[in-house]
Amino acid sequence: MQLSVIITNFKTYESAIGSEALDLAILHAKVMQETGVSMGVAVQTTDIGRIAAAVNIPVFAQHIDPVGFGSYTGHVLPEAVKAAGAYGTLLNHSERRIVKDGDFDLLKASIKRAKEVGLYVVVCAETPEEGGEIAKLGPDLVAVEPPELIGGDISVSTAQPEVVRGAVELIGSEKTLVGAGVKNAEDVRISIKLGASGVLLASGVTKADDPESVLRDLASGAA
Ligand code: G3P
Repeated sequence: MQLSVIITNFKTYESAIGSEALDLAILHAKVMQETGVSMGVAVQTTDIGRIAAAVNIPVFAQHIDPVGFGSYTGHVLPEAVKAAGAYGTLLNHSERRIVKDGDFDLLKASIKRAKEVGLYVVVCAETPEEGGEIAKLGPDLVAVEPPELIGGDISVSTAQPEVVRGAVELIGSEKTLVGAGVKNAEDVRISIKLGASGVLLASGVTKADDPESVLRDLASGAA
């Protein structure tokens, strides 16, 4: 499967759970097919199976835990995510941090476990500097998202272009995604122009009245 240039994180948005998650994922697949722009979706663990069975785009878990088979009630087992049909997983989103107080050990173990089962790994970072440290742990992509811009109306590429430039410098262009506040074609265009390989976004799509037209607009910025 091709690398996704636009990944939508469904988070726990009401519009992106259960059958609505499936509908939204189908829209991504449709727009991807019609525009040729790669797209992926990061969905609730419980929605991975039905979405992965229905759409031919990369489906990501929003998190996995660094556990194996056995006595780990309530944890998200990487093998189970893989068996459900996930292509990959997000890790360390700022709403589900794994790195705490500068300790990267748990994240390192999570990346290792995800890789062991063949999951494509996208790790989130809050700053370019953190992204640079995370890149050394060997994820497939690093998504830099300033937490204060998440869920807002101003995109990282407009409000803090230096974050995009810094991320590209410290992580490398081909491994860098950026996100927070991304809403339209211009946000995607600037991110890519500054050297990122794509964007990670959520509310711009999940809260849109017409997500299909938003996806088409976003895709036009990546074309
Ligand atoms: O994972 C993407 C996310 O944190 C950005 O959210 O709503 O600002 O696009 P949003």
